[in-house]
Amino acid sequence: MARGSSVYRCQECGFAAPKPGTCPDCTRQGNYVPLVEERQTGARGARAPAPPGSTPVPLAQVGLEGGERTLTGIGELDRVLGGGVVRGSLVLIGGDPGVGKSTMMFQASCALADVSPPVLYVSGEESAAQVKLRADRLGISPSGLYLLAETNLEGIEAHVGSLKPQVLVVDSIQTVYLPDLESAPGSVSQVRECGGRLMLLAKRTGVATFLVGHVTKEGALAGPRVLEHLVDTVLYFEGERHHTYRVLRAVKNRFGSTNEIGVFEMTERGLAEVKNPSGFFLSERPRGAPGSVVVSSLEGTRPLLLELQALVSPANFGTPRRTVLGMDYNRVCLLLAVLEKRMGFPLQTRDVFVNVAGGGRVVEPAADLGLIVAAASSYMDRPVKGDLVIFGEVGLAGEVRAVTGLETRLREAAALGFAGAVVPRNNLSDQVRLPLDAQGVASIEEAIETLLGT
Ligand code: TYD
Ligand code: MG
Repeated sequence: MARGSSVYRCQECGFAAPKPGTCPDCTRQGNYVPLVEERQTGARGARAPAPPGSTPVPLAQVGLEGGERTLTGIGELDRVLGGGVVRGSLVLIGGDPGVGKSTMMFQASCALADVSPPVLYVSGEESAAQVKLRADRLGISPSGLYLLAETNLEGIEAHVGSLKPQVLVVDSIQTVYLPDLESAPGSVSQVRECGGRLMLLAKRTGVATFLVGHVTKEGALAGPRVLEHLVDTVLYFEGERHHTYRVLRAVKNRFGSTNEIGVFEMTERGLAEVKNPSGFFLSERPRGAPGSVVVSSLEGTRPLLLELQALVSPANFGTPRRTVLGMDYNRVCLLLAVLEKRMGFPLQTRDVFVNVAGGGRVVEPAADLGLIVAAASSYMDRPVKGDLVIFGEVGLAGEVRAVTGLETRLREAAALGFAGAVVPRNNLSDQVRLPLDAQGVASIEEAIETLLGT
């Protein structure tokens, strides 16, 4: 048998190359280990026979098996997954340490153990006893759930082979390792190789697999990022440490939309679904306070109403302060400059503090008009008239531009009992019946005149 050409693999990043030296991927010197006989082919150039099972099939004859879905019973999670867990799918859940990934996956495992047992929960970070303690605290112990404290991937594969679970959870991908690779668990090559092996396992056995991955301080899914192209679905679990609400967001989904979000609240009995997030965010809203407005943020197909607060106060000396929580800092500075220029407010001598109440976050330009009105309201020390929702994008000339999803936003506001809305005039051009009384404005001057009266 002729030997295949030698393959070298960088120990740092797992990049494979035909010769040792400086790694072309991570540019480190001398980190190559030869992977002998990685490829045992016949004589060079000989054509390999097509592997069995890879025959082209006409699209119309492709069966749908493998597309079956199981509902976890946790509605917010099912929605983000695109309507339940797909057989044989590989899902990556990323998030900061302590945000609640393990809690979420454990609760989902328990729910799935009831509807499609057995479920195997592999914990590389906590012992089985620790997981049991969590289960006791949450008051759940389904009979179809199996715990395994193991980090050797070969051991995990063997247990999957004998237990034949319907669902497998690996918590976390940074703790599992393959003994054949020399690098440490959590290194890029281990994560990439283990992820690839788990992908094959999922596709071969049909076990729906969830991988938990930690995000580094910088916000990058450092190790697991290399898995993003490989897995079917990538979900991020986000939340502020000092607030109880958590948002689950799909950033990639081969089985559904990436527009959906799921909202949860961390309680002492685990994560609870928040079915009415707008109500949750607006629950402590002060009425008639200057600087407070309600804006609408469209998260995919889901409208969220959030309370935006601004505080404008005299600056003592030097450069005025701008402190922004929950919005883009540069966007806020831009909008304050527009407000200053158009309305003549001397904001360069004022400190401005901006906050989205409850630890919420708005990234949409539709919140622009809300921010302008909140800052003007605080500067003028005059509350916004009436119980209104405000949205619209603001341009540098102070014009109010149209936004998407007018009806969806208005319906949400109507459902929460708002009396009306102030919206971009361009959105109102077609004469459709709207779910809520909406007044159109074309410029920020007009919006401030309407809402704050001069
Ligand atoms: P955890 O799920 O372990 O986070 P991750 O796996 O993302 O690192 O839990 C995170 C935090 O949640 C932890 O600090 C304790 C808190 N927590 C609750 O407040 N209530 C609960 O019922 C549980 C299980 C955890
Ligand atoms: Mg954890």
